[in-house]
Amino acid sequence: MKKLLVTGGSGFLGWNLCGVAKESWDVFGTVFSHNIDIPGCKKVHVNITIYNDLIKIFNEIKPDAVIHTAAESQPNYCQTNPDESYKINVEASINLAGLCADMNIPLAFTSSDLVFDGLNPPYSEKDPVSPVNTYGEQKVKAEIEILKHCPKAAICRMPLMFGDPSPASNSYLQSILSNLHNEKYITLFTDEYRTPTSAYSAAKGLLWAVENFNGTIHLGGKERTSRYDFGIKVAACCGFDKSLIKPILQKDISMPAPRSPDVSLDSSNALKMGYSPLPLIEEFKRLRCVNE
Ligand SMILES: NC(=O)c1ccc[n+]([C@@H]2O[C@H](COP(=O)([O-])OP(=O)(O)OC[C@H]3O[C@@H](n4cnc5c(N)ncnc54)[C@H](OP(=O)(O)O)[C@@H]3O)[C@@H](O)[C@H]2O)c1
Repeated sequence: MKKLLVTGGSGFLGWNLCGVAKESWDVFGTVFSHNIDIPGCKKVHVNITIYNDLIKIFNEIKPDAVIHTAAESQPNYCQTNPDESYKINVEASINLAGLCADMNIPLAFTSSDLVFDGLNPPYSEKDPVSPVNTYGEQKVKAEIEILKHCPKAAICRMPLMFGDPSPASNSYLQSILSNLHNEKYITLFTDEYRTPTSAYSAAKGLLWAVENFNGTIHLGGKERTSRYDFGIKVAACCGFDKSLIKPILQKDISMPAPRSPDVSLDSSNALKMGYSPLPLIEEFKRLRCVNE
């Protein structure tokens, strides 16, 4: 089998990606502060911000392809720690792109729907970027520089994702489920819209993109939903009390990073080429959070 290097194998998306990819690739997943095993994959411990260490693992593994999910993925953290997060989100991404170009191997980069300001949805690949926070700005910078260094890279703009947690990192679904399960109230935004998909569907999209696509592509889910409506759907599907979910507005909560109101992605280009995220209800069934 060909060798796939997945950066961020200990993270939420990378963990799910390793699980799907191992069916058809010899997978090497990187870990950093969470030194966990990745079932069915080879674990590589590396700090991706140290260029010489990156070169070393490329020389040792000699990957046939790279999917780069390692990142500082929390917008609030990036807002308050711009220099530290820049090293991971931008500098390390550029270095990886250079190494992939040198080795002439394909690279898929996980960008974000947060490259947009959320004022003119849905967003296609042709729409100009307009980030409102540091995280979004770093993703834009990484996208531009990666394509300069490695023109054959696939820049995959990911939506909000949910799914099985890694032992080190949850998705937002886990906090919804655990609160509802424990009959605790939760608050969710009624005025923040996304096109969510599961990490499972996203992983399939990334595996398709790394082998078949160059340029920028949107890998959103098929349904536009507010965070509140998403929570209501989860409660309904899983048999929890919907009244535990209380609506709030973005302006009700103050956070370091400004939030975009509606970064729904138009993913019709990827859909035409065979990307097929499951409907939300099917995703919930697959995650076994549905009472049947
Ligand atoms: N989750 C979403 O809804 C979402 C939405 C849009 C885009 N994205 C993008 O998708 C990608 C994956 O997101 P995620 O939610 O899976 O993130 P995550 O759970 O926070 O995982 C981040 C990963 O990056 C690794 N990492 C961080 N700093 C590192 C360093 N210096 N050296 C090596 N590894 C390092 C972490 O390793 P350790 O934990 O071992 O330190 C972890 O494996 C990111 O690019 C993110 O921006 C995510």
